[in-house]
Amino acid sequence: ADELRSLLLGCIRDVPDHPKPGVTFKDITPLLADPRAFGAMTDALALLCARHGADKVVGLEARGFILAAPVAVKAQIGFVPVRKAGKLPGATLAQAYDLEYGSAEIEVLKDAFAPGERVLVIDDVLATGGTAEASLQLIRRGGAEVAGLAVLMELGFLGGRARLEPSLAGAPLEALVTV
Ligand code: PRP
Ligand code: MG
Repeated sequence: ADELRSLLLGCIRDVPDHPKPGVTFKDITPLLADPRAFGAMTDALALLCARHGADKVVGLEARGFILAAPVAVKAQIGFVPVRKAGKLPGATLAQAYDLEYGSAEIEVLKDAFAPGERVLVIDDVLATGGTAEASLQLIRRGGAEVAGLAVLMELGFLGGRARLEPSLAGAPLEALVTV
């Protein structure tokens, strides 16, 4: 586990002052370009699907898609996209959430889940937890059960874990790397 952590951490690049001054951006593109690291991450996340009994994997647009899709294939379960508002065709459920400035909205197809299905949500980074929180609400509103939330990296100093506690309602929050 320590070995996995250092492999993954070594492939995440800090970009100072992106997208705006004072913010350090966690760039995962070196990890995606390294098949050993990408493979190890995918295997670790697929193992979590099995451990938590997931029937489906949700990926959060956009970076969550890149992580979650190969995990779904590896775990041999279905993939469901949670998209930014206005992209999905047909009947959708929408959930708004607050950003540092203003707000955003994400959506899932209304019929994406079978009743009671267990869903593991995957994203790259847990920061304030706003995006993840909205996705957990969408899953419950869609009639499914939250099997857990798994992220590549948790930014511990932003307090996302505490914010998510009520919406996780006992479901596990797994971070492969915490900084
Ligand atoms: C980033 C990141 C997470 C989210 C974390 O996505 O990929 O999804 O922010 O922040 P939070 O915990 O404070 O909600 P972003 O919306 O920037 O866009 P992208 O994934 O489409 O690049
Ligand atoms: Mg994102």
